[in-house]
This record gives sequence, C-alpha cells and structure tokens, in this order.
Amino acid sequence: MINIAVLGYGTVGSGVVEVINTNHKSINKRAGAEINVKYVLDLRDFPGDPVEKVLVHDYEIIANDPEVDIVVEVMGGIEPAYTFVKRALESGKSVCTSNKALVAKHGPELMEIASAKNINFLFEASCGGGIPIIRALNSSLTADEIDEITGILNGTTNYMMYKMATEGSEFDAVLKEAQQKGYAEADPTADVEGYDACRKIAILSSLAYGRFLNYEDIYTEGITKITPEDMEYAEELGMTIKLLGTSRKIGDDSFYAMVAPFLVGQTSPLYSVNDVFNAVFVHGNVLGDAMFYGSGAGKLPTASAVVADVVDEAKHLHRNIMTNWSSRPLKLMTMDEVEGRFFVRVKGTTVEQVETVFDNVQIVNLKNLPGEFGFITECMKQGTYEEKVHKLNGNVITMIRVKD
Ligand code: HSE
Repeated sequence: MINIAVLGYGTVGSGVVEVINTNHKSINKRAGAEINVKYVLDLRDFPGDPVEKVLVHDYEIIANDPEVDIVVEVMGGIEPAYTFVKRALESGKSVCTSNKALVAKHGPELMEIASAKNINFLFEASCGGGIPIIRALNSSLTADEIDEITGILNGTTNYMMYKMATEGSEFDAVLKEAQQKGYAEADPTADVEGYDACRKIAILSSLAYGRFLNYEDIYTEGITKITPEDMEYAEELGMTIKLLGTSRKIGDDSFYAMVAPFLVGQTSPLYSVNDVFNAVFVHGNVLGDAMFYGSGAGKLPTASAVVADVVDEAKHLHRNIMTNWSSRPLKLMTMDEVEGRFFVRVKGTTVEQVETVFDNVQIVNLKNLPGEFGFITECMKQGTYEEKVHKLNGNVITMIRVKD
C-alpha cells in the first residue's frame, strides 16, 4: 500500500480524491500498489463529506508520519505550500503539485532536493491542466533540440476570448462565467493579466531548453485591453485573438519569451483551440511541429494530471525521474530585438502617412468605425516598430502582435 496525503481540499484537492475513488482499480493496477488517501489537510471542516474520516488540520501529523510516501500539494500560492513541500521532500516523501506559482519560483531548489534524496518532485498539472505536456517534454521529446514553445496556457482567458469573439459578450460577464465554472484562479487578476500563463511558459521553457527561465524576466501583457472592436478587426482579417505564452530559441544561444494577446490566423493550429481548451505547440529540430491539446483547467482534468504524477511516483518510489531542468539561468534578449508583425489601429492619420512610414502594410477598414483604420506591418524588430510608430502624426488606439 502507498499512503498519500493531500494538502488542500479545494477544487483540485477534492478532484484528486474523487479521481482516486472513481478509478481506483485501474489506478492501483497501473501504480502496482494500492493508493490510499491517508490524510487530507485543510483548515476547514467538511461536515457530512466522507473526507471527514481522513481530515486533519495540522500539517505536523503528516510531516511526522513515516507511513506517508507521497504528498500531494494542491493548496496553491507560495506559502505555506513552499514550507510544507520542502519539509516533505527533506524527510524523504515524494511530492506532486499543481501549483505553478510554486514551481516557477522554487522549482530548481525543490527538484535538487528530490534528486539528492532519490525521490521525486513532479508537477504535470502545473501547465495545461490535464494535457500531459510536462511528461512529453521530459520523457518523449528527448531526441530533439526544441526551438519553440507556444501555448494557449490559460483556460479562463481562452474561454473569455472565445465568447467575446463568437458571441460579442462583455468582458466582465464572461469572466464571471469562467469563475462559476471553476476555471479561474482565486484572484482572477492572475488569469486576465497573463501572470498565470507567464508562470506556465516559464516552466515549459525551463524544461524545453534545460535552463531556469525566471518568470519575472518575461514580458507579460494580459487581455484586459482587448475590446469588441479589436475582435471585429480580427474577424475582418479572417483571424482571431488569443492570449499566447511563447518562447523561442533564435540561433545558438539567444532566447525570447513573452505572454501577450496575439492575432492568430486560420493556418495556425492554435486558431481552432476554443472554449476552455489549452494547447501547446512545440517545434523541434528533428521532430518539426507537434501540438498537445486538451482540457486546460477545471477540477477533474487538473486532478487527472495530479493523480498521474501520484502513479508515476508510486512506480518510482526511491528512484529519481531525471528532468532536463538545471538551475543555470536562461537569459532573454530584450523585447526591442524581438521580431514580428504588428497590427495597429490608428486615428487622426492617413493611409498615405502610414505607408510613408511603414512601406508595405495591409490596410483594414471597418464600415462601422469611421475615422479610424487598422494596418498590419511587415516583419520587423519591435524596436524598429516603435521608432516608426512614433513618426505617425495620428494616435495609436491599440497594437496587437501577429502570430506567424
Ligand atoms: N486559472 C487557470 C486557467 C487554472 O484558467 O487556466 C489552470 O491552471
């Protein structure tokens, strides 16, 4: 029997218990042992819930119980999660977590402790909900030099963008719906400002490129400025708007990473990733393109990934599963140097002025928005774009990057 302790009985924690109860036969078979939920830790009481039998309020009970083999951290946030996880690893208990904030901030240290103790610190559910992308990067794409990861990494914002694009819904109303469906973070600012996607692209990039990408170094822009008019322009262009987390290796040793809304065209596989779904596009030098798609948020998809880690840890109780992530920092190029095409909405200027400054542009007009127009530039460095756009006499209403 393998005893686990679940820290936190919120959306994901209750999902973990539900998944283990629902699929216990196949889970035990795959793990090669019976997985027993010995404790659930939460500050709250849950009168009438069967979890009452294993509910504890004091972490010391779990930390001091040598029968606990695996600690499942699904509390979220940095503290007390970090202290609890570190203590569990130091006392020889493997840990799995869905906590992207914890992995993005303390991942290298926690992985080093696990490696030194010959146990595991796994975090499949921290990126892409139920999509097995971490395991794919760790175990499957090992023949490749990965040079791009681009993902729709936040279910809440993808749901919101989809509803705004297809139903013309208002920002606040769709955010409320996403919260009611259990997709959003406790504080949805982390979703709509891109902070959640930022931590996820930091984790995926660190695994893909084998160095630690500090999330604080990543340029991050959310979706709060996206308007129904921007969506109308996107539709007119045969495109849509998605919040993407993206990182690329340019040449031998240059990298960029960012989180921002992008105009995505119909030839991109990310164009059709709608609703709460997430997708992670990966390009490898020998593989070419691959895309991983699935449920990116919500109780059971996330719990499915957490329990998969429990099974993996049960199968490797005293053997560390290697990762390609080192604590050597990954340094990013400045945003000025990053190349791309830019969609710009302007007023108080003319097409002739825009063409004088930018040369070749694709112009787009909307009949219902007289007095302004949009254009898409050719590919150029962001620094060059900024120099040019300053030369326009008119006002820039908005700029959205184009995903190529
Ligand atoms: N709030 C997150 C999302 C949950 O919407 O994707 C899953 O990480």
